[in-house]
Amino acid sequence: MVDERMPRFPQGFRWGAATAAFQIEGATTADGRGPSIWDTFTAEPGRVIDGSNAETAADSYRRWRDDIALLGELGATDYRFSISWPRVQPGGSGAANAAGLDHYERFVDALAEAGIAPLATLYHWDLPQPLEDAGGWLVRDTAERYAESVGLVLDRLGDRVGRWVTLNEPAMTTLEGYALGTQAPGRTLMLGALPTVHHQLLGHGLAVAAIRAASGTAEVGITNNHTLVVPASDEPADLVAAVAFDLVYNRIFIDPVLTGAYPDLSAFGLDAFPGLEPGDLDTIAAPLDFYGVNSYNPTYVAAPAEGSEFALAGLPFEPVGPPAGTPVTGFDWPVVPEAFTELLVSLRRDYGDALPPVVITENGASYVDEVVPGPDGEPAVHDVERIDYLDGHLRAVAAAIDRGVDVRGYFLWSLIDNFEWAQGYTQRFGLVHVDFETGERTRKDAFAWYRGVVADQRG
Ligand code: BGC
Repeated sequence: MVDERMPRFPQGFRWGAATAAFQIEGATTADGRGPSIWDTFTAEPGRVIDGSNAETAADSYRRWRDDIALLGELGATDYRFSISWPRVQPGGSGAANAAGLDHYERFVDALAEAGIAPLATLYHWDLPQPLEDAGGWLVRDTAERYAESVGLVLDRLGDRVGRWVTLNEPAMTTLEGYALGTQAPGRTLMLGALPTVHHQLLGHGLAVAAIRAASGTAEVGITNNHTLVVPASDEPADLVAAVAFDLVYNRIFIDPVLTGAYPDLSAFGLDAFPGLEPGDLDTIAAPLDFYGVNSYNPTYVAAPAEGSEFALAGLPFEPVGPPAGTPVTGFDWPVVPEAFTELLVSLRRDYGDALPPVVITENGASYVDEVVPGPDGEPAVHDVERIDYLDGHLRAVAAAIDRGVDVRGYFLWSLIDNFEWAQGYTQRFGLVHVDFETGERTRKDAFAWYRGVVADQRG
């Protein structure tokens, strides 16, 4: 177990936890909410590993006061949550749904009373289904519709929320949602998914403009999912494969935002980025106040094995397992804290002053958590591995700060156990265990551990 004292983080560092609307709220038909692509996807047999859906999830649409109480107990300075587009504009276009906005207004007012600063994500994957029916992120119009919905949210909450994340992990929407089909909307277009990169980033740029127009003081950023790409060997073929993987996983999502240009995609037989129109890159590269990084693990990449699904799909890479002996989480994700430091240092090295201050908008781990009787008979969860993971990764952030990366905050994924997308309820990331039958919350040992870290750092 962890004994050495955590290094001191800079004064004013933000200590938070994160969640997303679809994963915790439940109440999918309450107060006029419309269907999203995730409601549709979860209703299709075979899409979610345990056949579950998010109709109740962690029941946070009703129990949000409990969630705020937990944040208060934790001593969190900030909370990252997402605003559900199908709640605030059910059909994805047209008038706002006042009842949906009322919910978030009550919520952020209560956060303010608790002294917790909101970091609101404006899109965490729950695209209104009517927009998917009209082409989803494959069509340019969705970027416009998204910016319009952002305007509606800002009209109501712009005076109460000071910091906004435009998009959560556009890479996952493109790769899992439209290329591989393992997440909503479940399309299997492989390279045909590339227009969704551009339309999401255009939506981001238009949203930045809408936020700036609505508020002179708002801070805005994007959250990208990043992984340190590690070639499986020193063989030239594996090195080339790693570069190609880095392009489609990391660089096509960060380069346009920070440098105003897409990377060269000739390795994929492309000479222009699908969907790009004159002027778009200026919109996409609008200056940001912070850059959100979600990261969980490095990815090991090799040249595609002959006959593998990657080779058959014409992809020039194949992700492979970590070196033997590497510890893994419940998701089988390799636990390599040093890779987190290297990733952050590489962002600073590659983007220099174009990289705004970084906020870690997600980091955490899923493990099989068991509720057992504690010493006083109360339910307890002894999640030693999660504490080790978090301790290692926080130290990795401290090491990156030491090496010159300007990191301003850390948002632990996640405050509470929740609906883990295509993994349903089989992966638990929370500091707090949720019984999905009853909604009951049980603090895990990691909760007390994080509370201690935050108290020590803030004190
Ligand atoms: C997403 C979260 C998700 C987490 C763990 C990120 O990709 O933003 O919604 O639950 O990783 O898989």
